Formats: sequence, C-alpha cells, structure tokens
Amino acid sequence: MTELSEPVAFPQDRSCPYHPPRAYDPLRADRPLARVTLYDGRQAWLVTGHGLARTLLADPRLSTDRTRPGFPATTPRFAAVRDRRTALLGVDDPEHHIQRRMLVPSFTVRRAAALRPDIQRIVDERLDAMIAQGPPAELVSAFALPVPSTVICALLGVPYADHDFFEEQSRRLLRGPDVADVLEGRERLEAYLGDLIDRKQKEPPGTGVLDDLVHQRLGDGAVDREELIALGIILLVAGHETTANMISLGTYTLLRHPGRLAELRADPALLPAAVEELMRMLSIADGLLRQAVEDIEVDGTTIRAGDGVLFSTSVINRDETAYPEPDTLDFERSARHHVAFGFGIHQCLGQNLARAELEVALRTLFDRLPGLRLAAPADEIPFKPGDTIQGMLELPVTW
Ligand code: HEM
Repeated sequence: MTELSEPVAFPQDRSCPYHPPRAYDPLRADRPLARVTLYDGRQAWLVTGHGLARTLLADPRLSTDRTRPGFPATTPRFAAVRDRRTALLGVDDPEHHIQRRMLVPSFTVRRAAALRPDIQRIVDERLDAMIAQGPPAELVSAFALPVPSTVICALLGVPYADHDFFEEQSRRLLRGPDVADVLEGRERLEAYLGDLIDRKQKEPPGTGVLDDLVHQRLGDGAVDREELIALGIILLVAGHETTANMISLGTYTLLRHPGRLAELRADPALLPAAVEELMRMLSIADGLLRQAVEDIEVDGTTIRAGDGVLFSTSVINRDETAYPEPDTLDFERSARHHVAFGFGIHQCLGQNLARAELEVALRTLFDRLPGLRLAAPADEIPFKPGDTIQGMLELPVTW
C-alpha cells in the first residue's frame, strides 16, 4: 500500500451516473486502503479493495453505532440525525441480532418469490397507466418510484394512500436542502409511524410485517414502541428509495448500452446475472460508515480505535483483481460477491425483495416497450449528487 500525499475528498459527485467519480481515480490506484477527507475536515480511512472490504465488513471490531463519539459523518444531514435511534443499521450485536432475527422470516428468498405475482401486478398496473398517458413519460415518477413504494407498503402494512407524504419525508431525510429540513422529515416520519402503530394496536391484525410486529412483538414486550418506530422508518425508507434508484439508473444504463440490452432481450435467462452486474456496476449506496472500536492491523498499517472507516462500494466493486475489465458492463461475468448490498451482519435485509422487484420491473418494461428510448440528450438528464443514494432525478423516455 502506498501513502497518498493528498487525501481525496469523499464523497464527490459522479460525472456519469453509472461510473464512480473521476476524482476517485487515485483511490482506485491505491488499494486496498486509503485516506480521505470528509466534509467537516476530518480524515477517515476508505476501504477500496474487494478482499479487504469483505474481511472488514465482517469484523466485529468495526461498529455501526452512530451515537458513538467521533463516529464519522459524510454529510451535515447525517450528523444531524446521528443521535436518533436507528434500528438495524445503527446498532451492533447483540442488539442487532435480536432485531434482525425478528425480521428475517419476512425477507427470505422464498418470501420474495411468493411476492412475485403481486410485484408483477403492480408493475403491470403502473405500465398500463404510463402507456395510456404517453408517450412521452417521466419514468421516475411514473414507474421507478411507485413500483417499490407500492410493494413495500403492501409488505409492511402501510397505506399506499399516504405515499406522497412518506416519499417526501424520505426525500428530505436523504437529501433535504438543509439540516432543519432533515430533522423535520425525521420527526414527521416518527410521528406518522407512531400513529400507525397505535392504530394497528387497536385493530385486528392485518397481513403486514408491521401488523405482526405490533401484535406479536410489542404485545409480548420483545420491542418497545420507540424501537418499532425506528424499525418502521428504516424498512419504509430503505424499502423504496434504494430500489427506485436502481430501476431508474438501471434503465438509463441499459439504454446507454444497446448491445447489452439486445443480448438481454434475446436471452431472458440472462436476467438474474444482468441484475447482479447492474448492482455491481451502479453501486448506488456508495459510502458505508463504520468506526473502529479497537486497533486493527491491515498490511502493516494500523487503523486506530476511534478512527472512521468508510467503504466505497463503487470503488470496491471495480477492483480489477475481483472483476477483470471492471468498467465494462458484462452479463457473462460472475458479479457475485459484489458489495452493493453490503456484507457481514448488516448485509441488506431486503436484497431478495430488491432482486425480485428489479427482475420483474426491468423485464416487463423492456418487453412491453420494445422501442423504449431516452427522450432527452443522455448527458443532459439530471442525476443525484454524490452525497446520497445514487440514481436519476428524472428520466424522460419515449417509445
Ligand atoms: C437495490 C436496492 C437496494 C440496495 C442497493 C440496498 C443497499 C443496502 C446496503 C449497501 C446495505 C448495508 C449498509 C451498511 O452495511 O452500512 C443495506 C442494508 C439494509 N437494507 Fe438495503 N438495499 C436495497 C433494497 C432494500 C429493500 C427493498 C429493503 C426492504 C426493506 C432494504 C432494507 C435494508 C435494511 C433494513 C438494511 C439494514 C440491515 C441491517 O443492518 O441488518 N434494502 N442495504
């Protein structure tokens, strides 16, 4: 490992929505560990090598408890809500294990497979409406966002009629213009889920995951109301924003790679591999946060207890020792073991659901609209800044 003379600022904006920022090139040359400067001037470690990332993401000496003094923050928004209770992603074992165990049965491969007919119906309804009103269409608002939002509502037992409200609060939480906006978004979501939980307690149980948690776990004292609110927030927010970004950016990327899209159309059996390769290539959740709780030795370098340790999934997933020609979209390669869903005990709880949604959404979209194309010059279509989950802000299309 070489020492970088000038730590790179992290995070930075991408210049192409499906490639890591050019400014990360020195990080790609400096694997597996580099120094970066955060927005507040602090320095932190950035893990950039694929093997080291999987080792450290599974290492209990790294904590995700963001209430710990000195836990790294990549944005003022994150710093503002750091002291709020964050279920799953903000807790270490053994508390994490207890929370995760309650939820795992609702997110298995089998459960996701059983949801496919519902996902298909939701995708079809959205496309029916979009096709009836177009062409053209704005794909984020007409398709990419409503599909996962409807799916997670049905799964959790949250009324979809409230989607404008919670989508707006999630947006403020993830990329609100200022800290006050973020805090208000968080408070409104807390109040909303608190009311929903109170209502559910008074009603006969429905079929949603939140209904189960309210009637079984809250009832027997395994969780308290505040913990349930925190669980509800992470499931609702992570359950729609991320997948929505993968659908919009995945569509954009396929339209920018017509050869790959033709391959996929000719051989639908490629779809699962294509989704995995898109996950690797797009790495939309770029910048996982941890803090060392003990000294950790890495190749003769010591990560000190208290140091911030970040993981750039976009850089890790382009490690050429794991993926030859990493900048090429290639459905024939094995993209397995990418870290776009994280790794270790916090590896994405919703990954089976997300894969099912992406497969159904992308297949149906391109099947039903064989002439789908961008309705604006590709490099003029706006996408999200680097300090939040990556994806398209808008996606004008026609067919
Ligand atoms: C393609 C879409 C998605 C992507 C790219 C994604 C990405 C990720 C990543 C990278 C992590 C690990 C974060 C870390 O270790 O710091 C994570 C965790 C998590 N994701 Fe996802 N996710 C997606 C979809 C979903 C869906 C649909 C749900 C549904 C509920 C979900 C729920 C969660 C939860 C609850 C965690 C925390 C797990 C834990 O701490 O044990 N995600 N996700």
